[in-house]
Amino acid sequence: MEKSIMNFHTRKWVKPEDLNPNQTLFGGRLLQWIDEEAALYTIIQLENTHIVTKFISEINFISAPKQGDIIEIGIMATEFGRSSLTLRCEVRNKMTRDPILTIEKLIFVNLDENGKPAPHGKTKVTFVKDRFEAE
Ligand SMILES: CC(C)(COP(=O)(O)OP(=O)(O)OC[C@H]1O[C@@H](n2cnc3c(N)ncnc32)[C@H](O)[C@@H]1OP(=O)(O)O)[C@@H](O)C(=O)NCCC(=O)NCCS
Repeated sequence: MEKSIMNFHTRKWVKPEDLNPNQTLFGGRLLQWIDEEAALYTIIQLENTHIVTKFISEINFISAPKQGDIIEIGIMATEFGRSSLTLRCEVRNKMTRDPILTIEKLIFVNLDENGKPAPHGKTKVTFVKDRFEAE
């Protein structure tokens, strides 16, 4: 597979409603943000909105963001399967680049209109802007 790079697209500002009782970012909130970011990445790559999260590997929470921190979520594609797409995720502090979390594998599956796995036909990362330029 062609080498893909980690793309830090989405930034989040840690707010009071995102905190756990220890006053740091609630892990469940971070996973919600990551799952949505990874799903959007998959939809854009596979050009299909009918996808699901199939598998998430070990999650390494490296450090705990505090209220007011700006964090950024990085996603990269590591493997295009037949119906699946495997992603890697890194979250870091936007200003200091201190690592916050890593997930080695998030696997999404491309579905047909009946909710069954379907081949996506993609083999490498593509960019929406190139799709427009190709027209
Ligand atoms: C996604 C789903 C349709 C897949 O069904 P399935 O019977 O496992 O499908 P398949 O065996 O054909 O596998 C489909 C792909 O997933 C991969 N896969 C299946 N189980 C896996 C696992 N445990 N770990 C990693 N990959 C897996 C397969 O390798 C295959 O990839 P490929 O086509 O690129 O080779 C089904 O498991 C499902 O509906 N799960 C619930 C999804 C969900 O609700 N997610 C949360 C909300 S988005």
